[in-house]
Amino acid sequence: MMQDRKTLRRQMRARRRALSPQQQRQAARSLCRIIRTQLWFRQARHIALYLPNDGEIDPTLLVDTCRRLGKQLYLPVLHPIRHNRLWFTPYNRDTPMRRNCYRILEPVLQGKPVRPAFALDLVLMPLVAFSADGGRMGMGGGYYDRTFAFKLQNKAIRGPRLIGLAHDFQRQDRLPLESWDVPLDGIATDCCFYRISC
Ligand SMILES: Nc1ncnc2c1ncn2[C@@H]1O[C@H](COP(=O)(O)OP(=O)(O)OP(=O)(O)O)[C@@H](O)[C@H]1O
Ligand SMILES: [Mg+2]
Repeated sequence: MMQDRKTLRRQMRARRRALSPQQQRQAARSLCRIIRTQLWFRQARHIALYLPNDGEIDPTLLVDTCRRLGKQLYLPVLHPIRHNRLWFTPYNRDTPMRRNCYRILEPVLQGKPVRPAFALDLVLMPLVAFSADGGRMGMGGGYYDRTFAFKLQNKAIRGPRLIGLAHDFQRQDRLPLESWDVPLDGIATDCCFYRISC
């Protein structure tokens, strides 16, 4: 089972990275067109997204749209103290950025206010593979799983909508999921939106 996860991750990541810049631009445009029409996007005020890396589909065309609509954006930052967890820090025009240990750009934490994960309305998260019933496989760090584990532990906390973003080829008929994997409320790709619980 562990080997399955590893092989699938390697294949999907290689396929993502093999996309040309033109294919990535086209995919990003389709993705953002699909997201903009969704009610859960329209209604959200505090939205976390990510800067793409390793061939991930690019959500940053939404940045201008969000700022125009008065939505507050956030980016994930590796938690400096709590092991393997994410913090969400505001992402504005003037936010200073640096590369973290994975060489991913993230905002510099300078005593900046952070927003607890449960107080976000919407989290757009990258993934390596997904299933249309809400299964998500990430890069294997367990960062998103740990950060949103409260959704599994306490069903009374609604928390943010968790929407995975992917190239459509990252879809799998079945995914080997573990007890700690936090399910997605939906997945948006360059082709369509897979609605699960939103
Ligand atoms: N809530 C949790 N508490 C403790 N450990 C966890 C939790 N969630 C995941 N882990 C650990 O993190 C490791 C990686 O998990 P997994 O393979 O599901 O990562 P992933 O979903 O691909 O990564 P990510 O969440 O960063 O996208 C596992 O070994 C698992 O034991
Ligand atoms: Mg997981």
